[in-house]
Amino acid sequence: MKHNIFVKNKEKERACNEDKNLMDSLSVCQDLVPNGCHNGACGICKITIHNGEYEKLKMNRKHISEDEESSNIVLACRTFPKSDMEIEFIEKPKSKHYTLGH
Ligand code: FES
Repeated sequence: MKHNIFVKNKEKERACNEDKNLMDSLSVCQDLVPNGCHNGACGICKITIHNGEYEKLKMNRKHISEDEESSNIVLACRTFPKSDMEIEFIEKPKSKHYTLGH
């Protein structure tokens, strides 16, 4: 069964199979998701779920704290849609660049 997943930060929607994790389904559109490991290790696919039902696998505590998990912040590659959903990728702050003085 497929559900429509709206990716809020890209203003785009895609039908995703409920047996596939969100990263696997959404990465068919390459501009929709960041490049990542798809197995819970890298943390790049951190999302906020604004709406919808889902099932999830165990989260990697390096990337998702218990508090975050209970506020619907999860890894997309460990999450399976069970209804239409609205999600948003949480962009990691770019690593800071320090310019050395001359
Ligand atoms: S893609 Fe690496 S943790 Fe999800």
